[in-house]
Amino acid sequence: MSLQVLDSFYEGKAKTLFNTSDPTLIVQYFKDDATAFNRQKFGQIAGKGVVNLAITKALYKLLESKGVKTHLVDTLDERRMVSRRVEIVPLEVVVRNRVAGTFAKRYAVPEGTVLPAPIVEFFLKKDELGDPLITAEAAIAIGLATPQETQDLDRLARQVNEILKAFFLALNIELIDFKLEFGKLPDGTLLLADEISPDSCRFWEVGTGKKLDKDRFRQDLGGIEDAYAEMLRRVQSAT
Ligand SMILES: Nc1ncnc2c1ncn2[C@@H]1O[C@H](COP(=O)(O)OP(=O)(O)OP(=O)(O)O)[C@@H](O)[C@H]1O
Ligand SMILES: [Mg+2]
Repeated sequence: MSLQVLDSFYEGKAKTLFNTSDPTLIVQYFKDDATAFNRQKFGQIAGKGVVNLAITKALYKLLESKGVKTHLVDTLDERRMVSRRVEIVPLEVVVRNRVAGTFAKRYAVPEGTVLPAPIVEFFLKKDELGDPLITAEAAIAIGLATPQETQDLDRLARQVNEILKAFFLALNIELIDFKLEFGKLPDGTLLLADEISPDSCRFWEVGTGKKLDKDRFRQDLGGIEDAYAEMLRRVQSAT
């Protein structure tokens, strides 16, 4: 691929975005920087960027093979992914299979409680507000998405959940919950964007319940690098 990487145009918490010689493509550089609780906690997880890119790539290829459109184009090296440039929908779409994280806190329900069916939630992507929960109705009312788009986001998120739940279960990992971001092409087509990694999912080992995701960083559980490496090993054993 004779793509030239140009200047950076966005410095995020976990990734830096670069323009390229093709205006329809960007490069995402995956860093080792880690933050939690809206940047109140920050640090580094050695090797995280490499793991997150490799896992994202493997999962996006799997999803594409099942008909889910993603922004993945290619990788340049172990930290740089070429993606379709999209306009990010300012909603984070969360799917939950078991109670954990902010859901447990918000409703005072014990972590680990199995939900009778998956739950999809939308959060407004706005760091200044702490990414608050938002209803589809409110998102439509303030012009963040059309009614059709909120339905499509919900449907796509549930489809991704079914594919990933089965994939991880075969690796002896239970997919507890995860966050997705979607973007739009100029013609309005919705694509899965950003990343799917131990930063954006909760993974519990079947049987032991061992956490193999960013909760080890959030909760100071130790062994964070090993947990990320273990998730990569399992994903690569299946792909
Ligand atoms: N294909 C894409 N085109 C344009 N922007 C994208 C694409 N994929 C992801 N992004 C955006 O790139 C940024 C990735 O950087 P990072 O994950 O570090 O952000 P962040 O600091 O977590 O901020 P945010 O709260 O916006 O996610 C995010 O803002 C994400 O929405
Ligand atoms: Mg992000």
